[in-house]
Amino acid sequence: MLAQQGRVHVIDHPLVQHKLTMLRDEQTGPKDFRDLMDEIAMLMAYEVTRDTATAPVEVKTPVGIAQGRVIAGKKLAVVAILRAGLGMLGGVLRLIPAAKVGHIGVYRDPETLAPVHYYCKLPQDIHERDVIVIDPMLATGGSAAAAIRFVKEQGGAQIKLLALVAAPEGIARVHGEHPDVPIYVAAVDERLNEHAYIVPGLGDAGDRLYGTR
Ligand code: PRP
Ligand code: URA
Repeated sequence: MLAQQGRVHVIDHPLVQHKLTMLRDEQTGPKDFRDLMDEIAMLMAYEVTRDTATAPVEVKTPVGIAQGRVIAGKKLAVVAILRAGLGMLGGVLRLIPAAKVGHIGVYRDPETLAPVHYYCKLPQDIHERDVIVIDPMLATGGSAAAAIRFVKEQGGAQIKLLALVAAPEGIARVHGEHPDVPIYVAAVDERLNEHAYIVPGLGDAGDRLYGTR
């Protein structure tokens, strides 16, 4: 289920929304937080890949010949923004097990909020693949915009961004810098607070995933 809010695809499937609500709950500990993020990412991957090209094939059943369809066209790469994007990776790969995986290390400088880049390893053939960049939080949009820039610099052209919770500011920034990149989210929240955390959001995704706070 997909609702178009402006230029963003909001995946409002009841299962996604139920699990997101549990994920937001401050009482949810790291184990359940990891499990929920993994499940939400898998469900969202189903919608993000909805426009995947298929080709007709015939298949012989025990009873006759069926006209079927199989996935065709370009292969996929999934690019996780470290650290919190790793929390979504397993779920996405369960649906798309043949995807190649890239990693981009970016964190927000706590003072300036600017993205600090420390790692980038992408599949060599990324220019031949459709790319899904994953990160649960789209706050100022600095990290996602930078990651998409690295993917483009290495030849990636067909790129989608998959996040769980977005602030309007982050959506505006990514759309401003990368108008060609569709954004898929489970929720668009109200705003950023004075520390550029999403309100109400779910807190610091990396710290909640890994229990580092
Ligand atoms: C979080 C999150 C995004 C970024 C979003 O990462 O996972 O990458 O913040 O904020 P932005 O839209 O304002 O750039 P963080 O910087 O906390 O790094 P971590 O995942 O390594 O903890
Ligand atoms: N990063 C997070 O993990 N959470 C926010 O709310 C903003 C940035």
